[in-house]
Amino acid sequence: MKKVLMAAVAATLMVPAAAMANDTYNTKCVACHATGAAGAPKLGDAAAWAPRASLGMDALLASVKNGKGAMPPKGLCNDCSDDDFKGAIQFMLDNSK
Ligand code: HEC
Repeated sequence: MKKVLMAAVAATLMVPAAAMANDTYNTKCVACHATGAAGAPKLGDAAAWAPRASLGMDALLASVKNGKGAMPPKGLCNDCSDDDFKGAIQFMLDNSK
């Protein structure tokens, strides 16, 4: 029991900051990207994200701002800045490897 607890604590401490929850993702993008609604690449789905990751951050940012397929422009976050979008995109990439 004690060993399990120690392992859990160690694992928590080793999580890099980028892997922590992201506000923009949690409030705006989660609706589609947590469930894969409308064909959205799901958080944690490495196969769905790998080809998108290779497009690069600039291309992904443009997809979000302009909308892509079933994703509405700005991913439904009209008051998000580029940095907000980048943070949410990076969060999904980092957690979908
Ligand atoms: C209404 C549902 C919905 C919301 C809300 C949404 N997305 Fe998406 N997203 C999608 C769908 C569907 C796709 C797949 C589009 C395609 O490839 O046809 C997608 C694809 C993406 C991609 C990959 C783009 C590419 O060029 O392949 C990124 C990055 C992304 N979303 C980021 C975000 C971010 C960041 C947010 C929050 C600000 C967000 N999405 C909110 C539905 C959504």
